[in-house]
Amino acid sequence: MGVQRREFNKLCGGLLAGAASLSASKSVAETKQYTRSALVYEDESPVTVSSLVPGTSCIFSYPYVATPCFVIRLRKSAVAADGWQGGVGEDQSVVAFSAICSHKMSHPAKPISHINFRDEKINFYTQGKEQELDQLISCCSEKSVYDPANGAAVLSGPAPAPLASISLEVNGDGQLYAVGSSGRNQYERFMDKFGFRLAMEYGLSDVRTEVGESTIAVLAEKFSSQQIRC
Ligand code: FES
Repeated sequence: MGVQRREFNKLCGGLLAGAASLSASKSVAETKQYTRSALVYEDESPVTVSSLVPGTSCIFSYPYVATPCFVIRLRKSAVAADGWQGGVGEDQSVVAFSAICSHKMSHPAKPISHINFRDEKINFYTQGKEQELDQLISCCSEKSVYDPANGAAVLSGPAPAPLASISLEVNGDGQLYAVGSSGRNQYERFMDKFGFRLAMEYGLSDVRTEVGESTIAVLAEKFSSQQIRC
């Protein structure tokens, strides 16, 4: 990717980050289109809505090979709001978000992940009140909690903005495609900060390599050898 494109992305990222910082609980509507990429399993079979087990999450790369995302099949519907598309599939239960925490960019790495989808109930504090809820994304680095059924809105912790949402499409066979990203764009900052390690981990000569027409989804507990849960 050329320098001009990177500079453009940086500019967009800065603008979106500024907009997102207006509120930690609201999604931002601007969507940047990237390559339409089919989600496939390691054996190249398609990731369909029905193939995802409710209450589980997979990690896939988007929009760059080295930028991890969650695709989650919730046990409930996720209704569109504030420019966020909501869940896809007949029951609107499938959602996708960047897995890069908006606080200090903790993310799933192959040896370990501090940010995870939690199907079971977890305890956290919202405005001084203890909560116990399930179906959330928890970042144990500094205990931010996001609600994937509500655009990854921040429920607790120091995260300044929701996770970036990944726009999904579903074809007639139920196969999922990632087509864009909206909300807090911190991909450039992420690759600047972790580029050397990411290039090694993903075997890339250019860490800014975008995904192609397909991207592999792996069960989160298989993607990272160790998941930190708090
Ligand atoms: S990096 Fe996720 S809460 Fe700090």
